[in-house]
Amino acid sequence: MSDLPTVSRWEVIRNRKRILKNPLPFHSENFEKFGDSFRVKIGSPSGVIFTRDPSVIRHILQKNHKNYQKSKLQTEDLAKYIGQGLLTSNGEHWKVHRRMIQPAFHKKKLEGLLAIMNRAIENELEQIRPDKVIDVYPMMSDLAFQVVAQSLFSRSDIRKRMARLQEITESNQRMLIREMRQPYLNWWFRLSGKIDRHLEMARKGREILNGIIEERISSGMRKDDLLDMLLEARYEDGTPMSRKQLLDEVLILFTAGHETTANALSFSLFNIASNKEVQEKLYKEIADIDQDSIRFPDLFTQLPYTKCCIEESLRLYPPAYVIDREAIGKDTIEGLELRKGSLVLMSVYELHRHADFWEDPEKFRPERFEQKLPKDYAQYYYPFGAGPRMCIGNNFAMYEMLLTLYRILSRYSISTSKGEIEINPLISLKPKKAPIRFERI
Ligand code: HEM
Repeated sequence: MSDLPTVSRWEVIRNRKRILKNPLPFHSENFEKFGDSFRVKIGSPSGVIFTRDPSVIRHILQKNHKNYQKSKLQTEDLAKYIGQGLLTSNGEHWKVHRRMIQPAFHKKKLEGLLAIMNRAIENELEQIRPDKVIDVYPMMSDLAFQVVAQSLFSRSDIRKRMARLQEITESNQRMLIREMRQPYLNWWFRLSGKIDRHLEMARKGREILNGIIEERISSGMRKDDLLDMLLEARYEDGTPMSRKQLLDEVLILFTAGHETTANALSFSLFNIASNKEVQEKLYKEIADIDQDSIRFPDLFTQLPYTKCCIEESLRLYPPAYVIDREAIGKDTIEGLELRKGSLVLMSVYELHRHADFWEDPEKFRPERFEQKLPKDYAQYYYPFGAGPRMCIGNNFAMYEMLLTLYRILSRYSISTSKGEIEINPLISLKPKKAPIRFERI
């Protein structure tokens, strides 16, 4: 990619303060200036390639995925806190475990989790205080954490331990963001013992989880939840996962499954709250459903417009707003040459708002997902990634979000006086605040 337009190191230094605060406008300006792919001179001598080109993204994630792996941002920087599970591993290690864990996330298996998920959601929604404006983000964050916790362990008496684990997970993520955004301070983070303190917290988190797993094994009980599925998963030679691997995978499910879903739910609620017409359509859809007939496999067909609202929110505010890959060997994509070791950042956020592929891209219009025409949007839409490393929890997340919106909107009308939601792009794309007023209907 030697002839790619390049943003100089100087430009990056000049803009460092605003990049640190929010890198998205800087990305956006460069895409407008240079087109769908450009290079930024940071890190290695060849820099980092940014792209929002759907053909390049499809090539990397799907067509020639074998030539690409996760970069050290995930396999080393994140892995040091949460271990080597699905999200943070590459190659044979990843492949073997993906094959083992995948069956636990099949729609059929998820059916068994509906009651557990539902209870966790109902519990969390008790925090809603009608006629008051609440920032829904912290509530959605607790909800998403509890849904993963209950789906794994199906126990309501572990709240205190889970609250501690949530604190640890969130605190370590904040540390990781500092390491990524201020790499020039990493020597200080190490020397001052900050990183060691967070590693110690991660160890404590593993102890909490190990205790809960031990209790399950010694109880001899079968609960048919995610933990049982992981305990029963076998390698090809018939052996189970080591305890270390099991803990890594469980931690990954918390990390990958909680913040992303909390973000998507908060954005969805905010978008619905600020669009009265959309809300009216949702009420009609929800009013037509008999509460007792809500069933897992049918949720998508029972709540088609609610699903469109979630899909449209994921388009405008994709929690995984960039996806990174490193080239294992050299490659040519539509005349662009990539060297071995090239780091590519695929901007899902930019692609989802690309005016060539989306009409009125900045507008919240759930109807665009009602039909796949005029264009098959799948090639411009990657909220859950694509190819063999596509999100393993996508159905889990969609069910959880549908159920949560259904439960909220069947009881409350929601509104907001804030015109636009401010975004906070950290490891995932979060809202700064999502203030919403709930009124009983
Ligand atoms: C709205 C919610 C979610 C979004 C937007 C989301 C998005 C994503 C994306 C884009 C990837 C692929 C990353 C890449 O290719 O580099 C991914 C991977 C993953 N997600 Fe999700 N996710 C969500 C919810 C969940 C949930 C609920 C779980 C589990 C309970 C989960 C577990 C995982 C795991 C384990 C991976 C790694 C898969 C692999 O590499 O084999 N995610 N997610």
